[in-house]
Amino acid sequence: MKTSRVTIHTLRDMKRRGERIAMLTCYDASFARLLDESHVDVLLVGDSLGMVIQGHDTTLPVTLDEMIYHCRAVARGAGRAHVVGDMPFMSYQTSIEQALANAGRLVKEGGAHSVKLEGGAQHVELVARLVACGIPVMGHIGLTPQSFHQLGGFKIQGRDSGAAERLLADARALEQAGAYAIVLEGIPAEIAAEITEAISIPTIGIGAGAGCDGQVLVLYDLLGMNDSFKPRFVRTYEKLATRIRTAVDAYVADVRDGAFPSEAESFFMAPDKRPAQKAASVASLTDYVGGCAPGSDDAPPGDDATPYGSPKKP
Ligand code: KIV
Repeated sequence: MKTSRVTIHTLRDMKRRGERIAMLTCYDASFARLLDESHVDVLLVGDSLGMVIQGHDTTLPVTLDEMIYHCRAVARGAGRAHVVGDMPFMSYQTSIEQALANAGRLVKEGGAHSVKLEGGAQHVELVARLVACGIPVMGHIGLTPQSFHQLGGFKIQGRDSGAAERLLADARALEQAGAYAIVLEGIPAEIAAEITEAISIPTIGIGAGAGCDGQVLVLYDLLGMNDSFKPRFVRTYEKLATRIRTAVDAYVADVRDGAFPSEAESFFMAPDKRPAQKAASVASLTDYVGGCAPGSDDAPPGDDATPYGSPKKP
């Protein structure tokens, strides 16, 4: 049965009904399939991939081509969730024409259903033009990581009343320009709740308290992939770093002492194809392969030589 796609209209309706929106970052098809199965509403192909996938200290080095590559993978794995492509640093700041062309590439080549860009009132013309072209826009205000150097680091924003008013004005400006949702990152919970009340489009919080219409986390943070990174706003639901280390340690030990692969994990020649002098020593394995060439139509169960666990494989 085909589940219907989450759209920007679904998200608006969820806000109207008071249903909270669950969003996560996602960077590849395997995770997209899993998150889809858990009914995550929105998959953000965030430029945070520059930090969690590529190992940079900031999101600044990420290129548009890299974003398109990851968007394409996520779009292939996601059958239900709405896929948002993040516009990377300097892909939308130089001119409106350049920004329209770049956002178009995220949709046409990357398969994104909408784009996200950082900043508020300064981008109203761009947001209106994108929406007029049919490209839905998610805004992003507060702690905007692409302004790392301008902000002096990853710092909580909106702590004084002047800054809080500017955030509210930014949110209203984005709504007016036609944005369908806004990420509120790293701001006091009271301000996020006030913005959420004041606008009709959904707010998605990260480090912005419980008063938003939805929440987003970086997937690798939620899974505990980096056990030395635990900021206050992250809830770690797993300790995958530890579990992965344990699994890989076991694999390395099995390879070192010859315990992997076993006979059941190996393929063998049909008896009539074996060199005569070796046939006797492997005769006992005939039962396992049943005398069939691996991968042939009459191969016994378990004789599939398809490489890797393709996410699309039923
Ligand atoms: O790039 C990203 O992952 C983001 C989210 C953290 C909101 O912008």
